[in-house]
Formats: sequence, C-alpha cells, structure tokens
Amino acid sequence: MSDTDKVYIFDTTLRDGEQSAGIGFTIDDKVQIARQLARLNVDIIEAGFPASSPGDLEAVRAIAREVRGPVIAGLARANLGDINAVWQAVEVAESPRIHVFLSSSDIHVAHQLRKNREDVMEMARAAVAHAKRYCSDVEFSPMDATRSDPEFVYQLLEVAIEEGATTINIPDTVGYAIPKQFEAFVRSICERVPNIDRARVSVHCHNDLGMATANSLAGVLGGARQVEGTINGIGERAGNTSLEEVIMAIRTRPDFLHVHTDVNTPELYPSSRLVERLSGMTLQPHKAIVGRNAFRHSSGIHQDGVLKMRETYEIMDPKEIGIPVGESIVLTKVSGSHGVRARLRELGVEPGEEEFRRIFQAFKDVADAKDEVDDRDLMAIVSEQTQMQVAEAWTLDLVQVSSSDRGTPTATVRLIGPDGQSHEDAAIGTGPVDAIYKAINRVTKVQNQLTEFSIKAVTEGIDAQGEVTIRIETDGKTYLGRASDTDILVASARAYLHALNRSLSAPAVTGPAAAPAAR
Ligand code: KIV
Ligand code: ZN
Repeated sequence: MSDTDKVYIFDTTLRDGEQSAGIGFTIDDKVQIARQLARLNVDIIEAGFPASSPGDLEAVRAIAREVRGPVIAGLARANLGDINAVWQAVEVAESPRIHVFLSSSDIHVAHQLRKNREDVMEMARAAVAHAKRYCSDVEFSPMDATRSDPEFVYQLLEVAIEEGATTINIPDTVGYAIPKQFEAFVRSICERVPNIDRARVSVHCHNDLGMATANSLAGVLGGARQVEGTINGIGERAGNTSLEEVIMAIRTRPDFLHVHTDVNTPELYPSSRLVERLSGMTLQPHKAIVGRNAFRHSSGIHQDGVLKMRETYEIMDPKEIGIPVGESIVLTKVSGSHGVRARLRELGVEPGEEEFRRIFQAFKDVADAKDEVDDRDLMAIVSEQTQMQVAEAWTLDLVQVSSSDRGTPTATVRLIGPDGQSHEDAAIGTGPVDAIYKAINRVTKVQNQLTEFSIKAVTEGIDAQGEVTIRIETDGKTYLGRASDTDILVASARAYLHALNRSLSAPAVTGPAAAPAAR
C-alpha cells in the first residue's frame, strides 16, 4: 500500500474527550493517557486547550516535555492570547502543532461571535499567520463547518492555507451530517479549494445522531487523510468519533476503503480500559470493538460456529485489538507473585516494584474471599492500586455498619489521618452507604457534594467483587473516586476516600468548558 493511502490518527481524548460532563482528569491522569496513546502509536495527540486554565496549560506542557513520538497539539481560539498560550505549552515538544479554530456558520458568526463574514475572514488570516510565526505545523478548523455556507468555507480554507495552515480540519461540531452528504462536502473541498494540495484534509465528527464513525469514514472516502476522535468515543453531549471503531474499520475493510493507519492495534484495548478507568465513563457492554460483549457469543448456533471456525461469526480477531482471550492462567490464593506478574504482563500492565507489591497484596486479599481471580478481578485490583498514587491523606482502617429493615442504619469508621493518627466517629444515615459517608465527613471535615454513586459487579457469581464509582464536587470541581472489594460497603468507603484524597491533593485540571466556543 502506498504512503498516500495512510490515514493520520489525531486523538483528542485529552481535549474534546475531557469536555464530557463529569470528567476531571488530573495532570497525572493526562500524562498517563498520553503515554499510552504514544504506545498506541497515534500520529497526533491533542493534549488540551491551554488558554482554558493554568492547570490545562501545565498539563499540555508536561505532555509536550515527556511524551515522544506523536505530534503534540494544543487548541486555540483565533486570538493572539490563546495562540501564545498554546505555544508556551507545546514549544518543548519533539513535534509541536498549533490548532486554531473559528466558527464559520452564519448562526455561530452572528449569534456567538457577533461578527460578520468579513470579520471572520480577517480573524482567520491573522490567527493562522500569528501561529505560523511560532510553528511550521498549523491546523485550522472552521467550526460548525457542516452547517456553514460551503462557498464561505472554501474561501476561508483558501485564506488559511495561504497563511500557512498545513492541516485543514472539517468539524461536524453538532453531529448534524449524514454520511453521503458529508462525503460529498469533503470531496467538494478537495476539488474547489484552489490551494488544497498544500494541506492535509481532516475530519472531526460528533455523535449526536449516532453517525460519527460513519461520517468519519465517509470523509475518508471523500479524500480526508486525517481522522480526529477519542478513545471510547468520550466527548461533549453524545461524544466524538470512537477512534477504535475507525481504526478497526480501516483495518478490517481495506478492500473498500483502500487506506491504512500506522496504529499499533493490540494497544487499543489497554487504551480503552485506561481511559474508562481514569474518566469514570463506564463502557456499555455492547460497545463496538472494546465492549465486554464485543466478542462474546451467546446463541448456541453462533457458539457452535465459532468453535468450528472463529471467522464464522467474528470479523476481527480479538488478539488484534489486544483483548485477552482464552489462555487465561487461573489464579487462586495459592498462586505466587511470578504467576500474577506474568498474567499482568499479558494484560499489558507492567507495574513498578512498589506498585506490584500493593497489587499482589490486594490480589491475596481478593483470592482469600473468592475461589478464582480472573482477568476482570485483576484489572479491578490494578485500577484501584495504581490510583493509590494519589497522595493518601486519609486511609480506611475500619468500617462497621449495622443495618436492618427496621431502624436506622449506623456506621462507625476509623481513619488514619494526614497526621498519622487514628480518628474515629459514627453517624446514622438513610441507608448504610449514606451512614458511612456521613461518618467519614464527620472525621475529615472536607466540604463536598456527592453527585454520582454507582456500583457494578466486576464478575459473575455471589462472591464477585463490587466496583464502586463515585463523583464528588468541591469548589466547583469534580473528583472521581473508584474502589473494588468483595464487600460493597468497604468498596463504597474506599471509593469515597479516594475522591476526597484526590480533591485534597493536586487540583483537577478544569476542562475547556471554562472557555466558550469549543465543542
Ligand atoms: O467540534 C468542534 O468543532 C471542535 C473544534 C474545536 C475542532 O472540537
Ligand atoms: Zn469537537
């Protein structure tokens, strides 16, 4: 396959993905995700929107400094301040990019920007020229392009390329496009913008009508050679294009699409799990490519077919996606550290010594309560123990609950505080979890509001671990907490403390929601 057939993969999990309601990545979360994206071998990582907050600028700068391989991009509105902030953040990158966006639809131009088309043309010209003074790699996006007058989009793109834009991105900002129409629009851009041969055409789709992946592939058929999206499709409202879907569609259907990517596809599953864990956006079981059921067959006819020949009902090999199948070593309480380490390696997890010590201890605790510890248990343990890296101001020493169908639930908690001392208190609540949280609040005295509580079984069976995910809000910021245990009340207490500890340590990076006009 020739090089012109490559589709560049632009990951915006850390920028557009972070704009999902309820996500608040810390800087450490962002660096971890960026490192994983580099292992996945995406071409470009959009690391954030530096002008939106000092925390976001710091996070983009940390990624630019530490992550090698992909181009590191930062987003800017079409003004000098935003562009300066992006450059301050990405200048240390091996390959930096400045991504400038500006609305082009009449509805945005008149009602959001309160300007006219001539103003927009001049703003685009000035902004791209300014970005180009810093950086040879500049991307320009006419926001809401699919609801814009095509003639105006062609003129705007021509001006942006004249000023030096090297990538021209076509956003379907509100998820309005229909694949056939979007393909024709992208093709018309390739044909009607006179200097288009000096830039790569990109597409950026949202999923409001459930067509983001279809539209992105239609864009490729129309001539686009960069696709933007996020891992697991996270993003504002109904989300962005799911990159794992686009990547596997391109890999599975070269006969029709005639393109390829350079993505290291066995890293897709580890990337999906990492983003699921750090974002707290739990995947639906039937999510294409990476959902729990994506390769599970339940009807007898299908099972029979797959057992005889996998391809009868599977169009992709789960190994290509990095999904661990079949060869699971069974881990039990008599398993040693070598077995656990070997299985972790197969699952793409390579903890350091201290981290492994904690994982192994937690594995022993779970194995004591369950007959067999499978991959899902193991990943739940990894998830909890690696998030322990968050400074542990408060740790749980004891939780005791008395609850019945008559009377009021009462909880007693004993915590080890930042002073190293033991602190104990009790409270009553409307239910056992409420009583635990009230008792913890009495001890820690951290003002917060619980905005979300959910619990799910990690595996099947009565001895399954329960995984609790919670979100709390303090000072207008959201903090995620997660924990798993075979006792769901213990998991609830630990998840709450995890969120509290996060709120007490590094401040969450507020997403671009703080700055208007990016979707
Ligand atoms: O959806 C959108 O229009 C965007 C731009 C900032 C590219 O995210
Ligand atoms: Zn977007």
